[in-house]
Amino acid sequence: MVALFIPKEIKENETRVAINPACAKRYVQDGFDIFIEADAGTGSCFSDKAYTDVGATMVNSADEGYGKADLIFMVNIPTLDQVKQFKAGSTVISFLYPVQNNELVKALAEAKINAYAMDQVPRITRAQKLDALSSQSSLAGYKAVVMAANELPKIFPLLMTAAGTIRPAKVVIMGAGVAGLQAIATAKRLGAVVDVSDIRPAVKEQVQSLGGNFIEVPTEENMETAGGYAKEASPEFLKKQAEITRKHLVEADVIITTALIPGRPAPKLVSEDVVKDMKSGSVIVDLAAEQGGNCELTEAGQVVEKHDVKIMGTLNLPGTLPVNASDVYAKNIQNAIQDNMNKEKAFAWNFDDEIVEKAMVVWEGEIRHPGTREAMGLSPLESPAKEKELVTSEKSGGQ
Ligand code: NAI
Repeated sequence: MVALFIPKEIKENETRVAINPACAKRYVQDGFDIFIEADAGTGSCFSDKAYTDVGATMVNSADEGYGKADLIFMVNIPTLDQVKQFKAGSTVISFLYPVQNNELVKALAEAKINAYAMDQVPRITRAQKLDALSSQSSLAGYKAVVMAANELPKIFPLLMTAAGTIRPAKVVIMGAGVAGLQAIATAKRLGAVVDVSDIRPAVKEQVQSLGGNFIEVPTEENMETAGGYAKEASPEFLKKQAEITRKHLVEADVIITTALIPGRPAPKLVSEDVVKDMKSGSVIVDLAAEQGGNCELTEAGQVVEKHDVKIMGTLNLPGTLPVNASDVYAKNIQNAIQDNMNKEKAFAWNFDDEIVEKAMVVWEGEIRHPGTREAMGLSPLESPAKEKELVTSEKSGGQ
């Protein structure tokens, strides 16, 4: 029987957990043995009893669980100390960001721990049900608007009163990926007027379909990679974008920034000069705070007031909605597992599947992720034939 272990997250202030009772029930039905660290779900309002009621076993220490586990489910990037506790041959499924965390990847490979990175699941239609970046970003986009609305000394909607008309709040959203689109939808539902800037032209239609006004920045540059991600824009484009968006930004009551370039620091889109010219009492929520921030004055993890503008660099917004965040993350992982079960409910990673092929960044001591190998100065994996060999041996071995 394949044994799963889900530890309590150890990162400070983390409330999420990688399994919810509904998924635990399904794993039991599918024939897995489930071990969960006592208290792991408390931050997400899932009691130990809710898990034991569906057939999971609680263990008192993470160490005990790691000793039993074939598969370990986590939310946050494992620490080096945690890796030391994992059993050789077990597979950890978690956010990993392997290109940025080379020391961790090396430790995993040396300890023969396999690693499936939720952040490396390809953004293809078939993989949407596994897409934890999207499931968490979407919640962050919602929460950013609610936080801004709570801080703003004004209401969002247009209100006709006997004492006169209250104009709707103006919200500007920089970056309309998953978080930005959810922020647009939420701000519109609250009645704000929403202006949006993004560098990928494909976004324009999505913004308009949600009722947002797209701020056009004319350019000949190709801003999108084949995978649909943004490329780093040229300094000329960013200058032009800054000139065109300035008017919208200084008139905004709320700015929500979500702009990211994978693997790069966040682009600076709201300068101190813009903040100085904003109205007193305005609010900026910077969802890119962890990657350096889209606003020049953002302080990661802090709420600061500069030039009479409140700038919120609050981190881990999905963690402020742990019930939903854990539910969807647990389901993302469960979908990854179920994709690798055959009709007889036997579980084995299928390396013929592009999703496994891309997400399994370390396997049997080998670092497989091309970008990570490059970042670590390793030569590319030799040949597809070698990878094929890996596939065949795994299929016969199973988990
Ligand atoms: P992200 O979090 O990497 O970036 C957020 C947004 O910032 C992007 O829309 C990007 O274009 C924008 N941005 C970058 N530089 C900017 C600048 N200077 N000014 C304004 N905006 C800027 O993106 P996310 O949310 O992870 O989505 C990336 C792509 O993946 C999108 O095309 C999205 O639609 C696509 N996607 C596809 C899925 C699928 O088919 N399975 C699932 C989820 C996302």
